[in-house]
Amino acid sequence: MDVCLLRLMDQLRSSRPPGTLGDRIIKVNHAGEHGAICIYSGQMLMARITARSMVNELTAFRSHEKRHRSIFGAELQRRGCRRCRSYWLCGLGGFVLGLVTGSLGPRAIAATTVAVESVVLRHLKQQLAALHEVDPAAVAAISAIMAEEQQHHDSSATAAQASKFWRSVLMPVVSASTEGVIWLGMRL
Ligand SMILES: [Fe+2]
Ligand SMILES: [Fe+2]
Repeated sequence: MDVCLLRLMDQLRSSRPPGTLGDRIIKVNHAGEHGAICIYSGQMLMARITARSMVNELTAFRSHEKRHRSIFGAELQRRGCRRCRSYWLCGLGGFVLGLVTGSLGPRAIAATTVAVESVVLRHLKQQLAALHEVDPAAVAAISAIMAEEQQHHDSSATAAQASKFWRSVLMPVVSASTEGVIWLGMRL
């Protein structure tokens, strides 16, 4: 093989973050679930004033996210991988997003959930396609959370649909920041 090509392959190998694709995906998903927990925590705090009727639903959603985080946490541990370096950033960013959107009332809260879950679901589907037949344990962990993510999306979609304003304001911001966190997490 050409020496230059060998050198290029070497460089690519050394500039790639450590671990398999499955390891990196599980890491970023684990950090993302932590971010989701913190979004709901921020929203629950504000919803006590701005959207009392949503507190129970937010509490249920947060309990699902805690379960998701422990699924990915257990898988990380089994692989001997450390948590993603973006973990605390996801938590902080999520909490601030939760506080801000929570203070804006029920429709803004629902629009945030729809925006976050739309990006998350798209990524989970891409991850499943990429890991199919390569990493069955990662596929099992991802498959175990999909139904609840879909449920969060669907049960918030009707309320968010009613508010074109919040959808148009929040969708681009939330989608861009969620995409950004996933992009960063895959490279740390
Ligand atoms: Fe989740
Ligand atoms: Fe979720």
